[in-house]
Amino acid sequence: MVDGIYIHIPFCLNKCNYCDFLSFKSNGEERKKYVDYLLKELDLYPNYRYNTVYFGGGTPSLLDLEDVERILKRLDIAENAEVTMEVNPKTVDFDKLCKLRKIGINRLSIGIQSFDEKYLKILGRMHISEEGIETFETARRAGFDNISLDLMFSLPGQNVEEVLKDLNKLLDMKPEHFSIYSLIWEEGTVFFEKLKKGILRETENEIEAEMFEKIIDTAEKRGYLHYEISNFCLEGKEAVHNTKYWENKEYLGIGLGASGYLENIRYKNQMKFLEYYGSIDSKLRPILESETLTLEDIEEYKYIVGFRLLKRGVKPTGKYIDTCLSLEKRGYLKREDERFILTRKGLMVANDVLDEFV
Ligand SMILES: C[S@@+](CC[C@H](N)C(=O)[O-])C[C@H]1O[C@@H](n2cnc3c(N)ncnc32)[C@H](O)[C@@H]1O
Ligand code: SF4
Repeated sequence: MVDGIYIHIPFCLNKCNYCDFLSFKSNGEERKKYVDYLLKELDLYPNYRYNTVYFGGGTPSLLDLEDVERILKRLDIAENAEVTMEVNPKTVDFDKLCKLRKIGINRLSIGIQSFDEKYLKILGRMHISEEGIETFETARRAGFDNISLDLMFSLPGQNVEEVLKDLNKLLDMKPEHFSIYSLIWEEGTVFFEKLKKGILRETENEIEAEMFEKIIDTAEKRGYLHYEISNFCLEGKEAVHNTKYWENKEYLGIGLGASGYLENIRYKNQMKFLEYYGSIDSKLRPILESETLTLEDIEEYKYIVGFRLLKRGVKPTGKYIDTCLSLEKRGYLKREDERFILTRKGLMVANDVLDEFV
C-alpha cells in the first residue's frame, strides 16, 4: 500500500560546486507555476493516504508559504504523519518557520554541510557557519522538535581532526537525527572539473575510512544510534520516510526528475520543464523512463537496500542464503537470529558487499 510521497522542488538560490541534484535558479513566478503543475500531476494518480510526506530538492524552503500550503491541503495526510521539508540556511526566518510548523511541516532536514568557513566557501554554499547554527536554533524556537542536520566529510584538503571538529559541533546542538555523507565527485560539477585539472584532490581511501570509523565511534559514544550507513539518530527518531526506501516499500514521487515506485514499477520523471509541463498538459503522467521489476529484481533489491539498515539487516531466502553464509565466513556479515547484518568490516566496504547480491 502506498503511504509515502516524495515531492521534488528543483530550485536553489545558487548551484553548489559539488552538487548534481536536479535544481535551477528561479523566481517566484516560476515556482508558483511549478506548484500549479505539481497539483495537476497529483490528479493523475489515485488519492492515497500518506503517513510520510517528504519535500526534497533542490531547496524546498524557497517555496512561498502559500504554495507549500496549497500542496499540503491537496494531500490526504494521516494523523501523526511525518511531514519533512529540506531547509537551507538563509531561506527561512522565524516567522516563516512558525508558519511552516503551523500548516503541518513537523520535521526539518537542514543542510549544514560544514561549520568551517573555509569548507563552506570551497563548497560554494550560500551561508556562513553562524547562519547554519542560527537556522537550527530558530527552528527550535519555532517549535520544531524533530530536526535532522546534513553534514559532509572527506572534503578536498580536509583532515580527520577537522571532520571530528565539525561532527562534535553538530552533536553539541543535539539534533534528533543527522546524515553524514562522504563527498561524491559527480561528473558535470565544478568540483569534478577542478579534479580533472588537478586543482582539487580526492582524499586517500585509508584516510576516508579512518574519518568514517571515527565518525561512527564519536556519534555512538555520544548516544546516537547508527541505524543506516549514512544516518544516525536518537532513540526512536529514525527517518520514517527514508526508511521506506531502505525497506523497498512503494511510494509516489512527483515533480521534475522525481523517482517513484508504484505497483512494481520503478519510474523517473521528465527532467526538463518543457517535457514535464507538456506531459501534464496532455493529462499524461510525466514519466521519462520506467522499469517493471521482476520477482527476481525485487528479491535482489531486498538485499541491496536491506543491508543499509544496520540494526535490522535481511533474512535471506533461496540462493542468497549461501551468499550470506560466505560473507559471514569472511567476516563481512554477522547473524542475529535468522537475520544477517553488516559487521564493521562489512560496513567499511559496504558497496563491495552489496555487489555480491547483484
Ligand atoms: C538533495 S541535497 C538537498 C539539501 C539542501 N538543498 C542543501 O543543500 O542544504 C541533500 C544532501 O545531499 C548531500 N550531497 C549533495 N551533493 C553531494 C555530493 N556530491 N556528495 C556527497 N553528498 C552530497 C548534502 O549533504 C545535502 O544536504
Ligand atoms: S547541495 Fe542543496 S543547495 Fe546546493 S545546489 Fe544541491 S540541492 Fe541546491
